[in-house]
Amino acid sequence: MSESTLVLIKPDGVRRNLIGEIIRRCEAKGYVVAELKKITPTRELLAAHYAEHEGKVFYEPLMEFMLSGDVVAIRLTGHRVIEGFRSIAGATDPTVAAAGTIRGDLSRDWGTKVVQNLVHGSDSVESAQRELALWF
Ligand code: TYD
Ligand code: MG
Repeated sequence: MSESTLVLIKPDGVRRNLIGEIIRRCEAKGYVVAELKKITPTRELLAAHYAEHEGKVFYEPLMEFMLSGDVVAIRLTGHRVIEGFRSIAGATDPTVAAAGTIRGDLSRDWGTKVVQNLVHGSDSVESAQRELALWF
């Protein structure tokens, strides 16, 4: 049975012209881009998306970063894609994300207040449904 996840290419990925490279890795793995759009997110949308992180030390820097440029939103589909995309994305901290992953190969710590790690991927079936409804 197929499932869907929300992938976001964050403003650092768009600025660095990595849209194609990130989508290539998703497709090479075997997942399918079912829907895709480039948008300038509002603070309201991002607040809903990152509601679980409200109040944390990195929340405001995260919001400012996500508001700093366009974002590409993708509905990616395939069997176990929620788990699979997080696997090819790599660990949250790009400094220690494994080589071979999107974050491990293509990002690092730039010394900013928030980790700029190129992509977001939903972390559960419930999150995926909630987030896809917000972005699409
Ligand atoms: P989180 O949902 O924990 O990570 P992931 O994107 O891997 O699911 O956190 C959301 C984003 O917040 C994360 O991608 C980068 C940022 N962040 C930090 O800058 N510092 C932190 O310590 C954490 C946990 C997250
Ligand atoms: Mg998360």
